[in-house]
Amino acid sequence: MSINILAIESSCDETSASVCSDGKILSNIIATQAVHEKYGGVVPELASRAHLQNIVPVVHQALDVAAINMQELDAIAFTQAPGLIGSLLVGAQYAKSIALSLNKPLIAVHHMQAHVLANLIGDNIPSFPFLCLTVSGGHTQIVLAHSPLNLEVIGQTIDDAAGEAFDKSAKMLGLPYPGGPLIDKYAAEGNPKAFTFAQPQINNLDFSFSGLKTSVLYFLQKHSEEFKQENRDDLCASIQYTIIQILLKKLDKAVAQTGVKQICLAGGVSANKGLRKALQEMGVKKGWKTFIPPFEYCTDNAGMIAITAYYKYLDNQFEDLGVTPQARAVW
Ligand code: KG4
Ligand code: ZN
Repeated sequence: MSINILAIESSCDETSASVCSDGKILSNIIATQAVHEKYGGVVPELASRAHLQNIVPVVHQALDVAAINMQELDAIAFTQAPGLIGSLLVGAQYAKSIALSLNKPLIAVHHMQAHVLANLIGDNIPSFPFLCLTVSGGHTQIVLAHSPLNLEVIGQTIDDAAGEAFDKSAKMLGLPYPGGPLIDKYAAEGNPKAFTFAQPQINNLDFSFSGLKTSVLYFLQKHSEEFKQENRDDLCASIQYTIIQILLKKLDKAVAQTGVKQICLAGGVSANKGLRKALQEMGVKKGWKTFIPPFEYCTDNAGMIAITAYYKYLDNQFEDLGVTPQARAVW
């Protein structure tokens, strides 16, 4: 008998549902909310409303693609934290309703744990222990994974996340939100050594991106709009290069401290072509084995919630129907 799990992710501006069977992802449907684009960032109230509109069709599509019907499900999982509270409530409430009506167990999943465990989807997966650099719009962490349910955060940002560093820099360059993918695109045509921006001097495994942000701001204030436009590609390449340097220097330090040489990437910023290439090159140079999940499992998605829920199911980690989502949550 297979273990079939339906998982729902609604922590920010992606409404997603996935069905997995014995840890194999059968479907991963993601509805991205375009409504936020014109506001230059995610508007929480609009995100909650869009989740309400999307959640039923997204869940039905996930079941259809997986060719699994509701009665065949063994558990329902949802993202409990962290995220926008109004968005989390929609996913949590819908998951509870299904669990109640089917009389099936409910599994609550931590979004950041799920980003790490996205690396366990598919056939080419790391063995334990591994290190994971999780880089998203809200988080930047180095996680030491001892086992699927025993993850230790050994470094994290003390201010902005890597994705914010991309998006805020892009905004200063006059690029639309979210600017990360655009910086990636223009950087491919530019010279990463054209301009130099600040890198933090922090001794432990923590990150900081506020100095970089300020240094980009001061640099751009000294130059004209024409300069920005004429040097767009070089500016993007130099900013991206600095962010990648900040990330990989800390990762190198984490490897030296832990002795763990299996390295994974997770979170939306792991879609960045420059970062993927730099990590792979560093892996070859340093003798690391590197893993990067397929793009659809890097940005917010329910597939990663499903795989995490599968391990929680095997460990009998269920919740009662009184469980509530949390905007902020420690591991
Ligand atoms: O993990 P994610 O989808 O959502 C959060 O949980 O935050 O990450 C979104 C972040 C955004 O900041 C976005 O600009 C960034 O990932 N991002 C990228 C790229 N694709 C997405 N940053 C740089 N290069 C990319 N190709
Ligand atoms: Zn995320």
